[in-house]
Amino acid sequence: MSKKILIEGGRALSGIIPISGAKNSCLTLMPLCILSGQSLVLQNVPYLSDVETMKDLLESLGCDVFFKKSKREIVLKLNRENLFEANYEIVRKMRASILVLGPLLAKYGQAIVALPGGCAIGTRPVNLHLQALEALGASFSIDNGYIKGLVQGKLKGARIEFPFKSVGATANVIMAAVLAKGSTEIFNAAQEPEIIDLCNCLLKMGCKIEGAGANKIVIEGVDNLGEVCHKVIMDRIELGTYILAGAISYSNIKLTGGELAPLKSFVEKLSNMGIELEEDMGLISVKRNCEKIRPVNIETQPYPGFPTDLQAQIMALLSIAEGESTIEENIFENRFMHVPELNRMGANIKTQGRKAIIRGVAELKGVPVVATDLRASVSLVLAGLVAKGETLIDEIHHLDRGYEHLVLKLNECGAKIGRV
Ligand code: EPZ
Repeated sequence: MSKKILIEGGRALSGIIPISGAKNSCLTLMPLCILSGQSLVLQNVPYLSDVETMKDLLESLGCDVFFKKSKREIVLKLNRENLFEANYEIVRKMRASILVLGPLLAKYGQAIVALPGGCAIGTRPVNLHLQALEALGASFSIDNGYIKGLVQGKLKGARIEFPFKSVGATANVIMAAVLAKGSTEIFNAAQEPEIIDLCNCLLKMGCKIEGAGANKIVIEGVDNLGEVCHKVIMDRIELGTYILAGAISYSNIKLTGGELAPLKSFVEKLSNMGIELEEDMGLISVKRNCEKIRPVNIETQPYPGFPTDLQAQIMALLSIAEGESTIEENIFENRFMHVPELNRMGANIKTQGRKAIIRGVAELKGVPVVATDLRASVSLVLAGLVAKGETLIDEIHHLDRGYEHLVLKLNECGAKIGRV
């Protein structure tokens, strides 16, 4: 696959873009095949390199994984038991690999998972995962870069209170608690739609869970889980990204397969900026009802607040707003890697710690830039759609991790993007 893409800016788009299944829900659901040992069929699965990486990891843990890409369906089934080591070579490629820890501990009472390194956006510690699983009875040691987990007997239900919300830690402890003995209460649980999707799938597998999507989740452990066929929810971050593609390029694009409800805080901000969205019969239309974009102030928060995963993307739009905007990134400590690249394109953005100050400019210029992480890379694509001239983006493997057929979807709406 080529490393670079070239975008010709200034083209208005029009057409219909289908929204795919949620990457972050797939990566959380796939390890359930370890928990149940039964057939797990997931539908509406996007064809992404992260899904391939999770497939490789689960295969190394004894699962048969059959990904029918054309049907967007993946069938998983644990075939060889007692493989519980997630090796560094795979884990280093994708931090979400840590999501096999809870299932392995619940299934085998032991697990060896490489410590996921940090990434461009932060150190990404897993202390909350380990503390929550310890509350259920696991004990951990860390040696030469591996987390070694052990359970004497079975995991036992417990009261768990997170000091702050963590999507991954909430998912891991839910997946461990469903097979634990007794009941588990989770306080300050993450409330993301992906957590609700995980719980809905587990309920269909025979689990007893109350409060999915709320601050407090109560789980009654069961002895075993059944097989399930589950349709993955739509990707709200992909949807928000394409809405911004329409807004930034004065386009008339419609989006199918998505819904605005999970993007309430994002939609409110867009409305303050002068971008109105219409939703009718499953079709979402983007309307830019004013010449210039109005500046706004944004603070990223856990769900239902403004999603950190749309921060880089909306910054591209704010860089051509009329006036000064601010963005406070409260979730990750280093998620402004796109700022120097946007500034190379003529944006005027200053960062002070967790705060970015964006002074809108009249025009961005197409120049060579480098993608640093998944959402930064797509923010450069958005800027490239509106920049004057051609934008060459390097290291675009980041894009393929989280956006299924992005170049195709945009070119079919009249964009001119080529892989070089
Ligand atoms: C999930 O990551 C998503 N990834 C991220 O999406 C998303 O940005 C993030 O949730 C926040 O919504 C997947 O679902 C695979 P967290 P996760 O635990 O679970 C700190 C994308 O672009 N923390 O909610 O890793 C952490 O460092 C990706 O699709 C600890 O300190 O996020 C962060 O500052 C990027 N200790 C904050 O909590 C822990 O044990 C929130 O992280 C765990 C997390």
